[in-house]
Amino acid sequence: MDKLIIEGGRPLKGEVEIAGSKNAVLPVLAATLLTDKPCTIRRVPKLRDSMTMIKLLRSLGKKIEMTGNDVVVESKGPLSHVAEYKLVSTMRGSFCVLGPLLAKLGKAQVSLPGGCVIGVRPVDLHLKGLHALGAQISMENGYVITKARTLRGTSVYLGGVFGSSVLATANVLMAATLAKGQTVIESAACEPEIENLCHFLQAMGAKIDGVGSHRLVINGVRQLHGAEIHVIPDRIEAGTYILLAAATHSDIRIKGANYAHLWALVDKLKQAGVDVIQQGNVIKVKNPRTIKPVGVTTYPYPGFPTDLQAQFMALMAVTPGISIITERVYPDRFIHVAELNRMGADIQREGPNAIVQGKRPLFGAPVMASDLRASAGLVIAGLAAKGRTEIHRMYHLERGYENLDNKLLALGARIHREKE
Ligand code: EPZ
Repeated sequence: MDKLIIEGGRPLKGEVEIAGSKNAVLPVLAATLLTDKPCTIRRVPKLRDSMTMIKLLRSLGKKIEMTGNDVVVESKGPLSHVAEYKLVSTMRGSFCVLGPLLAKLGKAQVSLPGGCVIGVRPVDLHLKGLHALGAQISMENGYVITKARTLRGTSVYLGGVFGSSVLATANVLMAATLAKGQTVIESAACEPEIENLCHFLQAMGAKIDGVGSHRLVINGVRQLHGAEIHVIPDRIEAGTYILLAAATHSDIRIKGANYAHLWALVDKLKQAGVDVIQQGNVIKVKNPRTIKPVGVTTYPYPGFPTDLQAQFMALMAVTPGISIITERVYPDRFIHVAELNRMGADIQREGPNAIVQGKRPLFGAPVMASDLRASAGLVIAGLAAKGRTEIHRMYHLERGYENLDNKLLALGARIHREKE
């Protein structure tokens, strides 16, 4: 295992290119299970998670070739209906093969993804939606076992106690494309990643209305054909670099992001006095002399993304003054608080709130990466802090940030990897 060594405390400068979205490419790859015909997916990010999904699809019987960031998925014989524990347990996103496998084969057996550091990660909404479509569902030895001779269209409400669910929407949406009749998904997730999935499914011949809204109407078809799709830019990677630029007072040009997917962050930073502007397909951060402390609450899209909460906390930790960060999607998603406090931050957790007493400077320290986005928050803090920060268990970062070392080196960061 590697650790990342950062010598922080100086501004960065340069340009960074945003990769394809991790959270878009996973359901898009899963959707190729719905057809036997070849599919081409462009701008696939080279991440641990996208490679895990490719491994999973190969284990299910798909033939996959990757050239650069383009992936061609073809069939090479009958599909297996069993998604093994050893792969699903390493990446929760694998659970979104359940819906397409069930729709394509009439049966599917997928390991329960288990919890992770950001929370219990239940799947009740996934199962509620598939059951509403007519699937028989049972649990055996840590596997979800589903069967359905025919899936029948229905109306189903997919809102949970924390609001809409991205991957439950993906699973039910994909299953509904091959169901008999019309399915209406109320309180569907409307994240850009779901929109990207809808566009891919439509290109495959699926009939979907309400794309981008909380109400998806799907008219099932007999079969889907092959198609090509471009994965949308990763809005969380882009947001991470925007917050990095603000926290280190750096002049960074962020290329290839979709500004329209970042409104919640842009608006929040404007309140803090940080202007995030778009010039063509480049986003620039105009840093003021002093940044104002501002609070934020995370919500499902179009609210402030939970996946940027840790990175925003790192910015507030180095912004003199008090701010309150409230986590409404994963109330336990604060594992980064203790690590930031090791660097001299003053953050107090109160239930779903973190009270940040921001100050400069933080000081470098050995810290532990955990959840992917908490680790990104530690990278930002390490680049803003004075001295040397060691981020252990770097593989967490490699799950969701393509080429992170080289992108930071190109921005002039003093970083390098060492073996643990
Ligand atoms: C997706 O996870 C993302 N992952 C997560 O990103 C992201 O944090 C999350 O959406 C919220 O935006 C991928 O797309 C691969 P949810 P997902 O179902 O779909 C509860 C990252 O760092 N819930 O939208 O699994 C759940 O516990 C990752 O890139 C139920 O109660 O999340 C949470 O509180 C982390 N029952 C809330 O809903 C269910 O059946 C939102 O979760 C499903 C979810």
